[in-house]
Amino acid sequence: MSDPRPIGVFDSGVGGLTVLADIRDRLPYEHTIYFGDTARVPYGPRDLAEVRYFAFEIVRYLVDQDVKLVVIACNTAAAAALKALQRSFDVPIVGVVEPGARAAVQETRNRRVGVLATEGTVRSGAYRQAVHNLDAGVEIYEQAAPDFVPLIERGVTGGPELEEITRRYCDPLMEKGVDAVILGCTHYPLISATINRTLGPGVRLISSAGQTSLEAARTLSRRGYLRRPENQEDYGRARYVCSADPEEFAALGGRFLDEEIEAVAPAAVA
Ligand code: DGL
Repeated sequence: MSDPRPIGVFDSGVGGLTVLADIRDRLPYEHTIYFGDTARVPYGPRDLAEVRYFAFEIVRYLVDQDVKLVVIACNTAAAAALKALQRSFDVPIVGVVEPGARAAVQETRNRRVGVLATEGTVRSGAYRQAVHNLDAGVEIYEQAAPDFVPLIERGVTGGPELEEITRRYCDPLMEKGVDAVILGCTHYPLISATINRTLGPGVRLISSAGQTSLEAARTLSRRGYLRRPENQEDYGRARYVCSADPEEFAALGGRFLDEEIEAVAPAAVA
């Protein structure tokens, strides 16, 4: 049995490509379709109900493309909408919050965990809840980092401006003595070098991409949804769709993925 339907992955912009890259490494024979809602990025400062509305539109679009699994590669959308989406759609849906929380609980030694995330994700309390579901004794310190996503979407991933902002967000977490920090936004792995340097060698950075792709792989395997390649070279195709300028998305996304992104299609979801 082979299931050739694609895996649908979405984010507000290019950040979710960090999760897509991990999915494609782990599941190289799967076809994927990535949706970046670049017309409405950033999601972080928006009302959670509005983000939930966007997430429903996008999942409906992906289901119309006949996806076999949806990965919400956006913490803000997962925090706002994962449960409501799972109740409303038949297709299996995986988010990034629980996998990131699980990795943090496994990694921390002093059980003091920091979270860097968008305002929406912090407001939702999703990480606090997810971590406490696994270990109620872990102390959680959440820091909203609203300036990161606009910078990253402009292509800034280093330099003095980013360093100054990073210090401002990391200082309060370091004062609390955390030994693990969750990158609670899928854009942040793109600036992990700066965050890592600022936090120092004693703090582990947790990105949810690895755990999320593992969960995606397990879900497909348990349901018998994996695609069997015809030969070893029969790799999955990656398609990209975005809601704003496809060329801009291709240029920025290609830089982040470190490979050429071809054929980005425009999609109107609203
Ligand atoms: N990358 C998304 C997240 O993980 C959204 C960032 C944004 O649009 O503000 O939260």
